[in-house]
Amino acid sequence: MTTQDLARRPSLRSQRLNQITHSPHTRLDALVKAHAPFETLTNFAPFVVAQYLFQSELVAMYNDAELITIVPDLPARCRAEQAKADLADLETDVPAAIAGAVKNPTKAEALGWIFVSEGSKLGAAFLIKRAVGLGLSDTFGARHLGEPAGGRAEGWKSFIKTLDGLELSAEEEADIEKGAIDAFNRFTVLLEQAYATAPKAELA
Ligand code: HEM
Repeated sequence: MTTQDLARRPSLRSQRLNQITHSPHTRLDALVKAHAPFETLTNFAPFVVAQYLFQSELVAMYNDAELITIVPDLPARCRAEQAKADLADLETDVPAAIAGAVKNPTKAEALGWIFVSEGSKLGAAFLIKRAVGLGLSDTFGARHLGEPAGGRAEGWKSFIKTLDGLELSAEEEADIEKGAIDAFNRFTVLLEQAYATAPKAELA
């Protein structure tokens, strides 16, 4: 890293994470949109499959005893159950796990993954509005995009405040960034797989 790069590194950890995930986020956003998930329910279902798989892989992290001491409401933040219920609403089978899930992340890596999962709730505020056009809502088919209890902005702010307040070693700092990048890469793989294996719409 050059001195110039260091000078451009924001002082808040959450801002550094935003900075390093900006490009992966832009790419993922474009990839999601390329599949036009809000055009039809057939297009939407694989998006939910990817969300379900991603959330399922995060269940252990959201329920990690040590992480709960840092973020007490962590288990309630996980959306694996909502995504599973969405699949049922959409009459879509619960998918089999896809090889390559994160294994034994360090605590700091896990926080990087959780940062991405929690951050994705911000984009979800926009996505759920589009899902309404498909007849879906936070109680049917698009539960995992719904407003979290206590509020979307509030949930994010409290998470970020905790994250920014943690004292981490240089190694842990690198791990949290690695976790965030790995999470974006993994969501990309899951999304691509979900669309590649989805039943295609019948041709008229
Ligand atoms: C798996 C991870 C993620 C996915 C799949 C995802 C997906 C998306 C998509 C598709 C949009 C576009 C919504 C629209 O224009 O209709 C969006 C917007 C947004 N996302 Fe994400 N996102 C993820 C992670 C994050 C993270 C980590 C953050 C924050 C740190 C974040 C913050 C936002 C914000 C603020 C918006 C709204 C407007 C914008 O800046 O583009 N997202 N996201």
